Amino acid sequence: MTDTRPVGVFDSGLGGLTAIRSLLRILPEENLIYFGDTARVPYGNRAPETILQYARQDVRFLRSFHLKAMVVACGTISTTSLDTLQAENPDLPFVGVVSPACRRAAEVTKQKRVGVIATRASVRSGAYEAALRRLDPEIAVIGKPCPLFVPLVENGRFRPGDIVIETVAREYLTPLLRQNIDTLILGCTHYPLLQEVIADICGASVTLVSAGEEAAYELKRLLKARNLRGDLSHTGEAQFFVSDQTEDFENMASLFLREDLRHTVRRIDIEQY
Ligand code: DGL
Repeated sequence: MTDTRPVGVFDSGLGGLTAIRSLLRILPEENLIYFGDTARVPYGNRAPETILQYARQDVRFLRSFHLKAMVVACGTISTTSLDTLQAENPDLPFVGVVSPACRRAAEVTKQKRVGVIATRASVRSGAYEAALRRLDPEIAVIGKPCPLFVPLVENGRFRPGDIVIETVAREYLTPLLRQNIDTLILGCTHYPLLQEVIADICGASVTLVSAGEEAAYELKRLLKARNLRGDLSHTGEAQFFVSDQTEDFENMASLFLREDLRHTVRRIDIEQY
């Protein structure tokens, strides 16, 4: 039995394409429909009520397709709104980034000291702490909001050797390293691009966990368990939608996907949903 219905994937903007990159590698047979709310990005500094209101509209738009599952690629939406969105859409399984990342972190931490870097709204939500404590009450969780990472990545400042990103990253990470973390959750869509810079600063004794990649593995487990997997003999197709102008999409998209995007992108009016 195969199920060729698409999987919806959404984010506050184009950062969620890092999750698409993982999905294309881990589940190449699946059809994907991506929505990036480029007109209202960033969500990470906003109030939880605003994030939920936006996320509800994002979900309503994607639900105009006949989906079999939904991936919340955005760390900020996953930490603040996932439970509500799942409760409001009981017929559609949702995968967020928090639980899969925490499960992996709980597996790999030896000293039971886990750092979490994410947007302000994500850290403020306490979602990573709560999920890790549920898995193992002895794990100490040290959260650190890194609000400058998103704009720096979007402006191409993510490469090792770039003095600006290295200075900012060192400032954010030093307090976590002082707390002797041995595992660090990259809890935001943009951070996979900073993996090398972060790894250089943290050193080999800290294991990095990429939340988006763990979500892709979680989706694979879910589709398998519920008999929802696509046709393994085919390569799936991806469709892309945004809520703002599409002109810059290809440049930004290739930044996050780390390959050229050969797909067209369509603009929709998210306020209609
Ligand atoms: N996508 C957001 C996240 O993963 C980062 C960008 C934003 O603040 O909207 O938290």
